[in-house]
Formats: sequence, structure tokens, C-alpha cells
Amino acid sequence: MMKIKNNITKYAKGLVLACISMFVISCGDDLSPGIEFMPDMYRSPSYETYSGSPIFSDSLSARLPVVGSIPRGYNAFFEYENTKEGYESAGSEMKNPLEKSEANIVEGERLYNIYCTHCHGKKGMGDGSVVKGGAYPPPPAYSDGVSSRGGNMSDLSEGKIYHTIVYGLNLMGAHASQISPEERWKIIMHVENLQNPQSEK
Ligand code: HEC
Repeated sequence: MMKIKNNITKYAKGLVLACISMFVISCGDDLSPGIEFMPDMYRSPSYETYSGSPIFSDSLSARLPVVGSIPRGYNAFFEYENTKEGYESAGSEMKNPLEKSEANIVEGERLYNIYCTHCHGKKGMGDGSVVKGGAYPPPPAYSDGVSSRGGNMSDLSEGKIYHTIVYGLNLMGAHASQISPEERWKIIMHVENLQNPQSEK
């Protein structure tokens, strides 16, 4: 009888001890997962997007590409400088390497509507939505405006338009980082149609 009682107390003690240890183990703070059995790769050591990093002095985990990096599709080096001379040289020397096909023009219009319409307007009249909203002075119309660099907008050569897309001009920002060389040439095909609305094909 005594022996059975002893055994029961032993088991009861064991049970209480087990409960206490489970309670203690499960009592981590919010960040601690406590003890995990084979977490494998469930908790990745990589940074979450835009999370902080103790490694870099500016505490950002998002880093800029190494100086001189060239994104895929941007392998054409642009040798003309952002000067009046660079603009004039690009204007007389650069030629559109793409065929003026229907598909390229259609794609050019699609890209133009993404990157240019809000300022220049759908028909290139300088009446895009941000201009209409009063936030922006109107850019000169492609068909009958005058360029601030001299000459009619309708006479701007493809090289001059290319130079403008790459570097921007005054209130117009540079678009080199978001539009690849091939896309620039396609957009230019569409701009040429807007320069000469009568002959648009
Ligand atoms: C934020 C508004 C804005 C956007 C976006 C914009 N432009 Fe402009 N653009 C202007 C303004 C303003 C001017 C007039 C700048 C000046 O002469 O001071 C201009 C001028 C130009 C000129 C005339 C350059 C010259 O030599 O006179 C061309 C060509 C041109 N833009 C093409 C484009 C193309 C192509 C896109 C789209 C890839 C584009 N722009 C996007 C505002 C914009």
C-alpha cells in the first residue's frame, strides 16, 4: 500500500515538473520562437525588403548597384554629353537603328502613353493631365511649338529627341534610367508622327 502511494507521488511530481518546464519553454517574448524542432529554412537569414541593417553605416539593407553597373538591355554606351554641343552632335549623327514597322510604332505609342503623355499630351500638344491640372507649364507642341533650344519642334531630328529623352531638358527630367535604348527609338517613331500629324501613317 505504502509502495503504491509512493509511486503515485513520484508520478505526480514528474507531471508537475513537466508542466512547469513546458510553461517556461513556451514563455518567450513575441520575437523568440522558443525552442523549435528542426526549423530548417523556415526562418530565412536574408533581409526583408527595406529592413534595416547593422552592417552599413547608413543602416539601410537596400544598396545601390556598384558604380558603373549597366542594367540588362542598356548596353549601348551614350557618348554625347549633356551640353548644347552634345545635343547638336547627337542631332546630326544619330540614326534610328530600328525598322519603322507598324509593330514598332504601336509599341512606341504604348510607351509614349506611359512615359510622356501626362506632360506632352496624347497628341503631343503640350496639354497632358499634369499641365491641365495646373501643376506644370505646358511643353511646346510637337507639331507647331518652338523649341527653347531654337527651331521648330516639328523639325527636331531623331537624335535631338533621343538626347532629350536621355538627359531631359529644364523641367523635363532625364528618362535614361527607366527607358531602354530600344524603347527610346520606338517612342521617337511615335513622336515623329506627332510632329507631322498630316502625314501620320
Ligand atoms: C514632367 C513632364 C514631362 C515629361 C514626363 C516629359 N516631358 Fe518632354 N518636355 C517637357 C517640358 C516642360 C519641355 C520643355 C522644356 C524646355 O524647353 O525648357 C519638354 C521638351 C521636350 C522636347 C523638346 C526638346 C528640345 O530640344 O526642345 C522633346 C523632344 C521631349 N520633351 C520629348 C519627351 C518624350 C519623348 C518624353 C517621354 C519619354 C517626355 N518628353 C516626357 C516636359 C516633360
